[in-house]
Amino acid sequence: MYTHLQERYAQRPPVNISVLNKMKAEGHKIACITAYDASFAALIDDADADLVLVGDSLGMVIQGHGTTVPVTLEDVIYHCKAVSRGLYRPFLMADMPFMTYASREQALNNAVRLMQEGGAKMVKLEGGASQADIVEFLANHDIAVCAHLGLKPQSVHKAGGFRVQGRDEATAEQMRREAKLLESAGADAVLLECIPAALGAQITQELQVPVIGIGAGPDTDGQILVVYDVLDITSGPKPKFAKNFMSGADSPLAALRNYVTAVRSGSYPAPEHCFLPLSNSPLSQAIEHRNPSTTK
Ligand code: KIV
Repeated sequence: MYTHLQERYAQRPPVNISVLNKMKAEGHKIACITAYDASFAALIDDADADLVLVGDSLGMVIQGHGTTVPVTLEDVIYHCKAVSRGLYRPFLMADMPFMTYASREQALNNAVRLMQEGGAKMVKLEGGASQADIVEFLANHDIAVCAHLGLKPQSVHKAGGFRVQGRDEATAEQMRREAKLLESAGADAVLLECIPAALGAQITQELQVPVIGIGAGPDTDGQILVVYDVLDITSGPKPKFAKNFMSGADSPLAALRNYVTAVRSGSYPAPEHCFLPLSNSPLSQAIEHRNPSTTK
């Protein structure tokens, strides 16, 4: 089924870090999405997405857990192998699960397994300043790393729930500092989850590396969504930033193409998918100035 991908896509060179950096430099939005199996991966490739993440969200949407904490390295490798068989053009990134990067050596061994066994080209880990040392160690071993800031689902039990982050000036400032620190440590990309749109815009402007957002407003260099949210497969209440792209589409492929087009054109995310800071902070004034119609 996938054996002729190389020939089918010979006109479309695979995305790599240089392509992502060029897209940022030229202001072309990066369309990213999660995948967990070969069939969805092939559809996402057909839809022309730029980057695919084998996220530890698989613990929730595939395995039915309430959090991403139970996901193991073996789980991500298994799904990453399947996804890599369905992809040709998009850049493949894999999540390092909870507690698989607690020390430098553990992080290196596990990142190597994600790349050699899973086929990942970049690994993503959740962390702020305390992870800079790990990011630097991986980067010094020529491993491409994406640092995940903002809402960090692996910390849900410590944080006391899934909450929007960086809503007040002090935590926003800290996130800006941590993003710069992680970039200096060698991170090749930063992912921002569930933060005010104005903070997403500031961090994106301040970093040289591409910044991918999920619930981080319209001004990040790219957007990512969980494929099950794009295709409205997830049951129950949806996060504020999610959008059902099946609405008005006659097939999953059409919905995925609509998502990629909406990210590239900037029509997604719209104001209703964005978070605001707490009302009295300077960040709040920044976003109200940019978009007075946005409701809190
Ligand atoms: O695990 C995941 O799918 C993620 C996205 C929410 C960015 O980290």
